[in-house]
Amino acid sequence: MDFLLLVISTSPRSRSHRLKACNSVEQKIYINLNDTVPCVRLLNATHQIGCQSSLGGDVGVIHFLESEQNLEYVLTTGNNPPYMVILESHLFNRDVMMKLKNGSSRIAGVAVIKPNSNPVGAFSPHTTCPNENTGVYSESYDPALAHCNGTMWNPNGNGLSYEEFSFPIFSLKDDNGTEVIRQCYMDHNRAVNGSVPVYPLCAMELSSHMSAVTDTVTCMRRSDTSGLSLNPEQVCDPLGNYNVWGATKGLNNSASGHSENETVVIAAARLDSRAFFHGISLGADSGTSGFITLLAAAGALANVTREAPPPRTILYAFFQGESFDYIGSSRMVYDMQGDKFPIDLDNIHSLVEIGQVGLHASEGLWVHTDPVSRRNVKNLTDIFRSVATSLNISLGEPDVSQPLPPASFQRFLRAQPIPGVVLTDHRTSFTNSFFESMYDNAEYLNLTFPAGLTPEEQFNYVTDTAKILRVYLVFLLCVRLCQWFQDVGNNKLCTLSCNKKSDLYSFAFYRFPLSAGAFPPEHYVGVNFNSNSSTKLVSYVFINLTGTAVNVSRENCSSSGKFEDMNSYTWVRGVTPPNATEPAGYCVRSTTRLARAESPAFLLGEFNSSTYSTWSESRWKKINARIFLVAGHDLEMLTLGVGLAVLLVSLLITFFVNAKADFLFSSGREPANATY
Ligand SMILES: *[C@@H]1O[C@H](CO)[C@@H](O)[C@H](O)[C@H]1NC(C)=O
Ligand SMILES: *[C@@H]1O[C@H](CO)[C@@H](O)[C@H](O)[C@H]1NC(C)=O
Ligand SMILES: *[C@@H]1O[C@H](CO)[C@@H](O)[C@H](O)[C@H]1NC(C)=O
Ligand SMILES: *[C@@H]1O[C@H](CO)[C@@H](O)[C@H](O)[C@H]1NC(C)=O
Ligand SMILES: *[C@@H]1O[C@H](CO)[C@@H](O)[C@H](O)[C@H]1NC(C)=O
Ligand SMILES: *[C@@H]1O[C@H](CO)[C@@H](O)[C@H](O)[C@H]1NC(C)=O
Ligand SMILES: *[C@@H]1O[C@H](CO)[C@@H](O)[C@H](O)[C@H]1NC(C)=O
Ligand SMILES: *[C@@H]1O[C@H](CO)[C@@H](O)[C@H](O)[C@H]1NC(C)=O
Ligand SMILES: *[C@@H]1O[C@H](CO)[C@@H](O)[C@H](O)[C@H]1NC(C)=O
Ligand SMILES: *[C@@H]1O[C@H](CO)[C@@H](O)[C@H](O)[C@H]1NC(C)=O
Repeated sequence: MDFLLLVISTSPRSRSHRLKACNSVEQKIYINLNDTVPCVRLLNATHQIGCQSSLGGDVGVIHFLESEQNLEYVLTTGNNPPYMVILESHLFNRDVMMKLKNGSSRIAGVAVIKPNSNPVGAFSPHTTCPNENTGVYSESYDPALAHCNGTMWNPNGNGLSYEEFSFPIFSLKDDNGTEVIRQCYMDHNRAVNGSVPVYPLCAMELSSHMSAVTDTVTCMRRSDTSGLSLNPEQVCDPLGNYNVWGATKGLNNSASGHSENETVVIAAARLDSRAFFHGISLGADSGTSGFITLLAAAGALANVTREAPPPRTILYAFFQGESFDYIGSSRMVYDMQGDKFPIDLDNIHSLVEIGQVGLHASEGLWVHTDPVSRRNVKNLTDIFRSVATSLNISLGEPDVSQPLPPASFQRFLRAQPIPGVVLTDHRTSFTNSFFESMYDNAEYLNLTFPAGLTPEEQFNYVTDTAKILRVYLVFLLCVRLCQWFQDVGNNKLCTLSCNKKSDLYSFAFYRFPLSAGAFPPEHYVGVNFNSNSSTKLVSYVFINLTGTAVNVSRENCSSSGKFEDMNSYTWVRGVTPPNATEPAGYCVRSTTRLARAESPAFLLGEFNSSTYSTWSESRWKKINARIFLVAGHDLEMLTLGVGLAVLLVSLLITFFVNAKADFLFSSGREPANATY
């Protein structure tokens, strides 16, 4: 044991050696890079995707790729491999990345500079057919429409997010830190007029070692704590978070299964988005436009429905993890089928889902329906059409043979032929040319302000896109109102509300989930309850918009939320009154609930499920990026040293396992001692 420790500790020691050696060359040795975002490893039932470094991090000589032709230097002719390739964003494409992947013996890692403004053209690292295998169209439902045979939804998709890389890939913010790297490269590494760069050279180290390998089945088996494995260690976690839901009237959350005399219309949107780098996934169009519109609709309806409860309850559902094979919606359907939800599928009257609605308002909205069960939705689309006409909104219906776009609704249809529609800004393929990429951001939707506004003015500034979304909102609102009031024979009110476009909730908060502050809320589903996720944001805004303040003390309205059968209570901070140091705080009653959004595959222990999402995320210990100068053979010595250390360790482990084989693999009369 002592010997093992000694071997491991030589690695930092050799670093301090180099530190001294470099000191003579340059004062600054290590420069830690700030605002980096790593690509991490994800696993599903059969594959691993994403990136990782070796255990101690990978080190390479920095090479700024200037053009695609320049690749040859890195891949074959350069004298100082392995290289740490720095890519300007326009070179971060499938072509270049696959060439680097195939030449990975000379590549230590890749750093992508995230530009401060979006590129022109299209870029989507997602697949062309999102959630291809877990939607409703399959060999059993309508084989002709399976695998996007009907419509290729994301034609720009290049699939980079689903590739596996054996080297680390980080994103760097284009700021002074990047300037430091650029300068270091220019001063030391750049081969001028064919000359060979001489030491000391500028190098970069990226550390993002991932604990999980192969696939979810393997890593869950290794994490198995039921006592079968020798050293259970959690190496991966199922992707998951919480769905947010609430209704126009309380549904008894203590009861579950079918609810007599209850008819529910589900209004749904998805909460999450993804990108190649999970930390920069805002999904302005792909996720946010939908949930913001739904939030605003819920808020605008709240006062109306409180005073005149509609004959059909509206259940607002915000689904998490939909980017990864419909985690949230498949879980809610599973819970409804298993009587673990206040209502079941038979209580559902219909479903309206808001998809991507942030773009190309001039073309209007499109109402997508399912060709197989379309006869069920005639009434629904008729209502939409008549309201759209009265509001002068262009509303189209795609070809009758076109399947539904990727949508949570597909998971409901899989279980039962529920009538439903999906509203989007595209007729066929996505109009969003940056689907599930880092460029699907506020800038893409023109949600940016004129220069020179104070934060307060910014808050009150309504951008053009917000105006467009407001029109959508009015539309949605009217459809809902018309449906209720037609049911109770009150058409007058319907027309009245539809023309009342004013006093709707300000869309100022639309920018909040997209704000480019130091820590914008992450829209990637993540693992466990990531408190910075869109779940938290949406649940609080939903509580604010649909709840009512009640005179309940803080103790009776705990900050973690007090739940009764029908309502939930949340303590909110409120604003700080003048001359006070603490905000007053008050209690809000609402119907808001969080429901676990973790794939049923993990509940059932079916880690190779083909029905449910099996995505999990690897754990890691250290994520770090830094640059420094290497003097001559240091790098080689380091590589050699690490290699020797690894060899030694593995020899030792082999020796150790061999020596203790009797202990380790015997029937284990003394399992407690066996691990020592
Ligand atoms: C797992 O992901 C890979 C890569 O995207 C894909 O090819 C494969 O079909 C997925 N496996 C399952 C069971 O969904
Ligand atoms: C970045 O550099 C510019 C000019 O060199 C300087 O004005 C600015 O303060 C620097 N920013 C930071 C965060 O250091
Ligand atoms: C990173 O942040 C630290 C502390 O704010 C700062 O001292 C350092 O210069 C930054 N590094 C770079 C490369 O900008
Ligand atoms: C590189 O070559 C060009 C033309 O051959 C010359 O003008 C330039 O000065 C050279 N640069 C250096 C640094 O030698
Ligand atoms: C909610 O359902 C539970 C279990 O069926 C029942 O005991 C309780 O009385 C119900 N609460 C209300 C307010 O109806
Ligand atoms: C954003 O503005 C540009 C230029 O005015 C325009 O071409 C583009 O269509 C706008 N995008 C959206 C989503 O409104
Ligand atoms: C959430 O954001 C804060 C900064 O606002 C950060 O310190 C914290 O680590 C983040 N938490 C998670 C779980 O990412
Ligand atoms: C929602 O937020 C607004 C603005 O902060 C506040 O005026 C209002 O009272 C809040 N509503 C509830 C129910 O908390
Ligand atoms: C809230 O309740 C307390 C005690 O029940 C009472 O003294 C107070 O006047 C109430 N405040 C309001 C605004 O009703
Ligand atoms: C706040 O304090 C200022 C001076 O400290 C005083 O003039 C003002 O009346 C106070 N306002 C309230 C609401 O108490």
